[in-house]
Amino acid sequence: MEAPELLRVWVLAAAALGGSWATLPDHRVLPDHRVSSETGAIFVHELERELFQEAFLTGHEDDGAAAPITFQAHLRDHPNLPRWLRYVQRDPHQPGYLYGCPTAAEVGTHTIEVLAYNRHTYGTVAQRLVITIIPAPDGEPPYQGEFLVGNRDVEELLPADAREIFLQATATVWERDDLHVVNVTSALDRGGRVPLPIKGHKEGVYVKVGSRGAFSPCLASAASPQSRFRCSLGQQPLASCYDTFAPRFAIRWCNLTLLQVSPSPTAPGPVWGSGVLEEDGDFQPPTEVPPRDLLPGYLVTLLVPLAVAALLCLLLGHLMCCRREGVQKRNLQTSDIQLVHHTSIHGDTEELRRMAGSRDVPRPLSTLPMFNVRTGQRINPMPTPRDGARVPLLPQ
Ligand SMILES: *[C@@H]1O[C@H](CO)[C@@H](O)[C@H](O)[C@H]1NC(C)=O
Ligand SMILES: *[C@@H]1O[C@H](CO)[C@@H](O)[C@H](O)[C@H]1NC(C)=O
Repeated sequence: MEAPELLRVWVLAAAALGGSWATLPDHRVLPDHRVSSETGAIFVHELERELFQEAFLTGHEDDGAAAPITFQAHLRDHPNLPRWLRYVQRDPHQPGYLYGCPTAAEVGTHTIEVLAYNRHTYGTVAQRLVITIIPAPDGEPPYQGEFLVGNRDVEELLPADAREIFLQATATVWERDDLHVVNVTSALDRGGRVPLPIKGHKEGVYVKVGSRGAFSPCLASAASPQSRFRCSLGQQPLASCYDTFAPRFAIRWCNLTLLQVSPSPTAPGPVWGSGVLEEDGDFQPPTEVPPRDLLPGYLVTLLVPLAVAALLCLLLGHLMCCRREGVQKRNLQTSDIQLVHHTSIHGDTEELRRMAGSRDVPRPLSTLPMFNVRTGQRINPMPTPRDGARVPLLPQ
């Protein structure tokens, strides 16, 4: 096959491929979803199957409502999620979760692109998640306790109501009411082992809870050196209070960690001006712009230069026409003797010119056609046709 022929086939194939990608069935784009979150607190976004299911259904009526859906999420223009954000979905019939704890370094806006795949039809639905991280108004909580929940998977502690129940149980042990969840981590991320596929065996979740108030004696004793020692012997730690987590959450008390975070001098975050949206607020673009009166501006722009130009024209005209000094004025200002002098020169020149025009003197000899230098004799250069003989130039 000739080279141009080959090229043509390539181009056609590429065009056909491109065309088939462009007409990918069911690729829908949902409107952007905007959320905001504070630093130092857990951020959880549930990728609801129902939302994407609806988008799939509009394309395929015959598809059952329970189609398996998987998700893929990445930071816009990047291949992966930002470091602070993690993604979990247990199986395609469960919702997916994006979760993580943003720190002060993450303040700003993060745009996450989520792509949902219908595993039956291979349709895709895209959605953009715009996360705005704002600095927590009063910094990181100085007291943080990390509990290991043995009988849960990470996605079971991510929904807001599950976290709320967990916090209620913590509040009785900690005796504080300003608790909030700082971080949720699967034990697998901390080197835990994948559980056997037996019903009831869960991977375990670390839940970090923060507060502004000191730890209760109960927590302090559970994390004391004596308790640690008992744990190392395989015994239960000292318990000075009733375990309010049981039976819903099986807390591994031996793995309790109490952290006292020194209130780090929080760098002053950006100062929010008047243009920043309220939390969870949607931007409402102004529908009508009040008509602005542009006439004065227009007139000023147009008339001022025109007026200046006209003034300059007038000035120039005046200088050129009205203030012109004529010959009469000049003559009046010149002394008479000078004028006479000047007129006489002028007159003499004129006269000489006239005389030169009409002078009638013979032409200089040298300009004549034939001329004998010595005799001054003139000869008609044209030979007379009568004798036909040559006339010598010089006389004998
Ligand atoms: C939250 O937990 C993850 C996983 O253990 C960890 O990488 C991250 O640093 C934690 N974030 C904060 C703010 O503690
Ligand atoms: C809990 O703590 C014990 C020691 O106190 C440790 O051996 C074990 O690995 C910890 N469990 C997990 C899931 O980290």
